[in-house]
Amino acid sequence: MDIKNHTFVVTGAAQGLGFAIASSIADAGGRVALIDLNDEALEKAHNALTPHAKGHSWHNANVSDEASVVAAFESIKKTHGSIHALVNNAGILRDGMLVKTHRDNPTDLIDTLSLAQWQAVIDVNLTGVFLCGREAAKHMVQEGNGGVIINLSSVSRAGNMGQSNYAAAKAGVAALTVTWAKELAKHNIRVAAIAPGVFGTDMVASMKPEALERMLKFVPLGRVGEVQEIAHTVHYLVENDFFTGRVLEIDGGLRL
Ligand SMILES: NC(=O)c1ccc[n+]([C@@H]2O[C@H](COP(=O)([O-])OP(=O)(O)OC[C@H]3O[C@@H](n4cnc5c(N)ncnc54)[C@H](O)[C@@H]3O)[C@@H](O)[C@H]2O)c1
Repeated sequence: MDIKNHTFVVTGAAQGLGFAIASSIADAGGRVALIDLNDEALEKAHNALTPHAKGHSWHNANVSDEASVVAAFESIKKTHGSIHALVNNAGILRDGMLVKTHRDNPTDLIDTLSLAQWQAVIDVNLTGVFLCGREAAKHMVQEGNGGVIINLSSVSRAGNMGQSNYAAAKAGVAALTVTWAKELAKHNIRVAAIAPGVFGTDMVASMKPEALERMLKFVPLGRVGEVQEIAHTVHYLVENDFFTGRVLEIDGGLRL
């Protein structure tokens, strides 16, 4: 599928990877519908798209809230006429060990991963992907022109210390990608996932410094990724009409 003159929904588009993806789609002549949580941040991101935010739109929605997602996609359909692609990017971190004990005394319990920490990440990173994927697919199927859905998974889907919630959600996202690719192929809808390693966004800035340092030791290329390297991958996945049902790792060689 070409990017030019097609409509892309990007969730979590106000900053970080989502904004980089939205900008590069806009630069390539695509129309972007930005979804995020905050009016001010959305409007700022929308106005930063080139040239002068023409043909783009922003929609305040919480991806984990069904009514909010359904309304956002209805509004996007109304604004743009059709939906050709979705980048399911919105995500959060609420890291914590399942059971945290004192370094010098392993039977001395400090904390456990709370249900609230668990549920918050599952709600946004897994249920949010499901809800947006469902609404995008519904509109694409009704329009009958095919489409592309790209889900942001993570290298953490293989399991990562301190990330029970995040790893489980991102493994779920990888499984949804394969499932949807199989279900939606007959509608000419392709579904792909990207599993980023470590990228220099606010999400990574919020990681504990020791966790980031530990992670970078395992990156053969020895650096965090540039957000444009994920945007470039989105272009490839949109434009390659034989790519579906697979997760592409963009991680500088990191293996968890
Ligand atoms: N940055 C990395 O190194 C990295 C690595 C692997 C995977 N990822 C994944 O890439 C995606 C983007 O990460 P990022 O680093 O750009 O994050 P970020 O925190 O910089 O940006 C995330 C965006 O999502 C929005 N968002 C959060 N909850 C939302 C909700 N309920 N509804 C709508 N919008 C919501 C936030 O407001 C924010 O604008 C996430 O899915 C993340 O898990 C990132």
